[in-house]
Amino acid sequence: MTLRHETDVLVIGSGAAGLATAINLPPHLNVLVLSKEDMKAGSTNRAQGGIAAVTDTSDSTDSHFTDTLMAGAGLCNPDAVRFVVERGASAVQDLIEMGLQFDRYRAALHRTKEGGHSHRRVLHVADATGRAIASTLIEEATRRSNIEFMNDCVAVELIAQQVDENVKRVVGAYVYNPSTDRVECVNTKAVILATGGASKVYIYTSNPDTCTGDGIAMAWRAGCRLSNMEFNQFHPTCLYHPEARSFLISEAVRGEGGKLRLPDGSTFMHRFDKREELASRDIVARAIDYEIKRLGINCVFLDISGLSHAHIENHFPTIFQQLLKIGIDMRVDPIPVVPAAHYTCGGVLVDRHGRTDLEALYAVGEVACTGVHGANRLASNSLLECLVYAKSAAVHIAEWLTSAQPINPGIKDWDESRVTNSDENVVLTHNWMELRRFMWDYVGIVRTDNRLERAANRINLLKQEVHEFYSHYRINSDLIELRNLINVAEAIVRGAQWRKESRGLHYTLDYPDQLRTAQPSIQYPPDDPLDVLQPSVARV
Ligand code: FAD
Ligand code: SIN
Repeated sequence: MTLRHETDVLVIGSGAAGLATAINLPPHLNVLVLSKEDMKAGSTNRAQGGIAAVTDTSDSTDSHFTDTLMAGAGLCNPDAVRFVVERGASAVQDLIEMGLQFDRYRAALHRTKEGGHSHRRVLHVADATGRAIASTLIEEATRRSNIEFMNDCVAVELIAQQVDENVKRVVGAYVYNPSTDRVECVNTKAVILATGGASKVYIYTSNPDTCTGDGIAMAWRAGCRLSNMEFNQFHPTCLYHPEARSFLISEAVRGEGGKLRLPDGSTFMHRFDKREELASRDIVARAIDYEIKRLGINCVFLDISGLSHAHIENHFPTIFQQLLKIGIDMRVDPIPVVPAAHYTCGGVLVDRHGRTDLEALYAVGEVACTGVHGANRLASNSLLECLVYAKSAAVHIAEWLTSAQPINPGIKDWDESRVTNSDENVVLTHNWMELRRFMWDYVGIVRTDNRLERAANRINLLKQEVHEFYSHYRINSDLIELRNLINVAEAIVRGAQWRKESRGLHYTLDYPDQLRTAQPSIQYPPDDPLDVLQPSVARV
């Protein structure tokens, strides 16, 4: 018998998106927040630079709107961008009212600058803004008696039922509990996917281990459309060091005057964009990649030594301390950096309320594609998007639940009758590494038709192998995540193959020009997602 839990609303994910949605739901609804590790394990807790919002009279939402559109390379949905930037100040105010203390200069909020922003508008808590936001939201959520938590458990699959010919409703989720090695089930009236991004599909990433695209894959398998999956953002400056590979060096370091240099000390960004170090991320990451390949070097260097020691220590205490531990004193030493996979701009296609294609299923945060980021996300717009859409989704869910007709969920037990324990887990570790390595080599910063074709062929083989494994063996966390990463990799490659142009983060040597008309890619799920031979299509 499958162990069953019951709740009004299931939130999968305890980052900014999940917790903010839970907090905004009315107190009469029971909410269960599920996270696959501890509550702080996602990207939110690692966010450094800050949160972009217009909080100063010399700035304007029009300017934030224009900067976001510029970074998005023609592919942002202007209505979605307007929706978010206009709610920036109030999202920040909500955090302040929950007790978050942003850095201030004298009495006013201190604003830092990042690439692509034409104003200083990024509010921050030194260089550990995410840690402060995560702690504030966790404290607030734990104060609410209607919110419960279930940690260290992995959502495996959404459970949906046909309501009528046209409507399919989500009624629950299967959840793997590693402590009992069993799959349990959560019956619910609504599900919010807040599972974060998928940058673990690349071998070099700034992201924590949780970012395996689980929500994107689950939604796809349940029948939701995905959009803009080809746009994976590579952050230009991750630390290049054998002991701390995935540590980010915030864009705010460049915002405060950091210069990128080649090993001989010369600067190079002026050759690529007149905004130099503060051009948008796609441009800076591509420039670094170009120089690394041109010169056959391992990394470039970020030099902030022009700034006063006190400024560096006060604004970047986390980065400063982390670097000191490995013998780099950023007050005087240039920091070795390389680009790394950082952010999933595409995701589950949603509307302004975070609604997906399935009734009662919402997606909020990095898992979702709202249209705000287009072909390239503007720095520090992600946390903002999480908070604004969390509120909007919560309001919509509460309203919908007052009129939704109940249905009998009739959820079946998880069937393990035909599976055994695997004694071949090496297949999983091998396939994990293989996938992430070829995604980096073939579907990275610079793409070609040939490389994408190679990646697609390998993904097909892995998909068949993992499908076999999934059908014959009892599941575990590695298998769940690998299966999801394969779905995500396939969607990235399919989107990239469909796009016959270079735009924003998608750059291909075969189609170097940008088409005159910008179109999002929209992928429709196949009828039977487990059928490995069925071709899927990306169409607009
Ligand atoms: P996350 O915070 O990643 O949370 C996802 C949650 O889902 C986690 O709790 C995870 O355990 C859970 N989960 C995932 N899969 C499952 C599953 N199958 N079952 C159960 N639980 C699951 N953005 C900015 O705007 N400003 C910044 O300064 C900034 N800096 C960044 C620095 C770094 C190093 C990184 C990696 C990202 C940064 N970003 C920044 C991006 C931003 O932090 C993220 O996009 C944002 O925090 C995503 O929030 P989220 O709630 O959607 O996902
Ligand atoms: C950073 O601090 O550089 C990350 C900001 C972001 O991803 O928006």
